[in-house]
Amino acid sequence: HHHPVDSSAVLDWYDLHARDLPWRVSPGDRRAGISPDPYRVWLSEVMLQQTTVAAVKAYFLRFTGLWPTVFDLAAAPLDAVLREWAGLGYYARARNLHACAQAVVKEHGGVFPQSSAGLQALPGIGAYTSAAIAAICFDEPIAVLDGNLDRVLARFYAVPVPVREVKDDLRAALQASVPKRAGDFAQAMMDLGATICAPRNASCLICPLQPGCIAAREGTPLLYPVKPAK
Ligand code: ADE
Ligand code: SF4
Repeated sequence: HHHPVDSSAVLDWYDLHARDLPWRVSPGDRRAGISPDPYRVWLSEVMLQQTTVAAVKAYFLRFTGLWPTVFDLAAAPLDAVLREWAGLGYYARARNLHACAQAVVKEHGGVFPQSSAGLQALPGIGAYTSAAIAAICFDEPIAVLDGNLDRVLARFYAVPVPVREVKDDLRAALQASVPKRAGDFAQAMMDLGATICAPRNASCLICPLQPGCIAAREGTPLLYPVKPAK
């Protein structure tokens, strides 16, 4: 029952303003038929789970320098992986990372599954990560919803209650908005959440979502998302 996000406006914005990230294939290159490497996208998404893009970049470049493919990472000693992970926190993630690389090699011949369902069966890959990889690498038409998107959608729909109470509605609204360029759309929404509709600053005047955004119309973006009562 929520109106969809204008995915065409979002993609037009992304074509001009996509961030240049080491694991990302630019919209122009994607149009030219280049697809992202699932190994690199997976590695970046695991690193980004509790760490900022700015902090992840250097780790990502070091990991992919040492271990350019999933075969290299699977063959690496666990203690070397843990050592390189130092500073990213949550060592369980690094152990899962190594276990996942080994599962991809042993059970899938080194080829990542090409669906969110197949990806989610791997160690350490949950609903968010499987959706992100499937959308970004294979253009699976699936909603990719993280904490930043919760904030953007809470504002877009001026959600008057804590997001956790309406999570299913927000997911359905985002799902209904996913265009053919599902991977670029997912990444565009993440970039929007990071740069335009940021936690303490909403740049509504330059936001491609502004025409449909209820919080922008009401001039109240920073009232959302509503905090849960303690
Ligand atoms: N944060 C998490 N995943 C991301 C991605 N693929 N692009 C930009 N920011 C992200
Ligand atoms: Fe966020 Fe403003 Fe864009 Fe709405 S118009 S999504 S509040 S930046």
